[in-house]
Amino acid sequence: MVADTEQEAVVFDPFSADFYRDPHAFYPRLRAQAPVFYNAEYDFYALSRHADVAAGLKDFTTYSSAYGVDLGMVRTGQKAPAKMIISIDPPEHRVMRSLVNKVFTPRAISAWHDMVSDTVDRFLAAASAGPSFDVVSDFSVYFPVEVITQMLGVPEERRQQVRLWIDESLHREPGQIDISESGKQAMAEMWLMYYQLIQERREAPREDMISALIAAEVTRDDGAADRLRDSEIAGFATLLGGAGAETVTKLVGGAIATFARHPEQWQQLLDDRSLIPAAVDELLRYDAPVQYNVRRSTREVTLHGVTIPAGAPVFLLGASANRDPDAWTAPDTFDINRDRTEAQNLGFGYGIHSCLGAALARMEALIALDKLLDLMPRYDVQWESCRRVSMQNVAGYSHVPVRILA
Ligand code: HEM
Repeated sequence: MVADTEQEAVVFDPFSADFYRDPHAFYPRLRAQAPVFYNAEYDFYALSRHADVAAGLKDFTTYSSAYGVDLGMVRTGQKAPAKMIISIDPPEHRVMRSLVNKVFTPRAISAWHDMVSDTVDRFLAAASAGPSFDVVSDFSVYFPVEVITQMLGVPEERRQQVRLWIDESLHREPGQIDISESGKQAMAEMWLMYYQLIQERREAPREDMISALIAAEVTRDDGAADRLRDSEIAGFATLLGGAGAETVTKLVGGAIATFARHPEQWQQLLDDRSLIPAAVDELLRYDAPVQYNVRRSTREVTLHGVTIPAGAPVFLLGASANRDPDAWTAPDTFDINRDRTEAQNLGFGYGIHSCLGAALARMEALIALDKLLDLMPRYDVQWESCRRVSMQNVAGYSHVPVRILA
């Protein structure tokens, strides 16, 4: 490990209250002065430049996912206990990805369009009975988890419980890195619920994702047929709840805050709804719900004069990369009309682990924004009452109260 004086002056603590409040305040100095940052307190490295993060995400042999993707897990140096797709490396990853791809094809996802639209309608109507409501705590926390659990086949009365379990498992007090005991308990209860559901669907399959995952089959490189085990399906379902719910919640909350600061671009969407997909891309770049994923180095790597030893946790800061001036023109400007081909948007990750649910996430965000445009063509945000979450990996608002204007 090498740390020059300039680098020591740069501060980056992803578990601090300051970071949760405004992660983007830290990235410019990281990129400029400490592109391979070493945090001595927690003993991790962080890559923040677009070129390095993108290369790191592609290079799964050097930066392994098999030890987990958050610091609490990676720093144990133990392989992740549950075989979840996000925390396995090739060749196992290839087999599992082709199995679960079968239920996430664009065609399979578009078949859920009306369900998503109805779910968004239902929760938006309940939230917006009056002229003021909270876009996150009254609306965007509810619908994404309802969507993914409906797809999986979770009975209605358990769907919002899944959200509470996920919140418990991801929440971190400032300075806390490892999952709490109550978080572990929540994960175990969620896993068990899915495991029992799988047993029921084996007996009597239905038109849901759990039944499809039970039936999915791939041919391995050696020609043998492979299916998912019950424990793998339970792990996958547990992951989908977290990956698919928290992120969309944050995207929609962040969108309303961002557009309140850029009302002229909200007006552009009102005038031309075909711009919404570009707006979703720009939100993923400018205000990425996933700030980073952590990897474990499998060998010594020297980059920008700093040597990362083998076996070190390495943060790949996608959210910083998405604001790198070497990759994007005026990166700190929110612009739904920007040239999207200028660089790879890392909001959904990149490489083999890139977001499996990207098509679903886009569909959910598109539908939610379309309906919010109808509901509140003009609005203002009560900034003093906005609150942000303190969670690992994801960032964003827990509260965005708005008033609909006449
Ligand atoms: C705006 C919403 C979303 C964002 C910003 C997002 C972002 C990401 C990112 C950055 C990764 C890469 C993780 C890594 O490299 O370690 C990822 C992976 C993943 N996402 Fe998403 N995601 C979103 C929504 C969803 C949804 C709706 C689902 C499914 C219901 C989903 C399922 C997954 C899964 C299963 C993986 C792991 C894929 C693999 O390891 O092969 N995500 N996502």
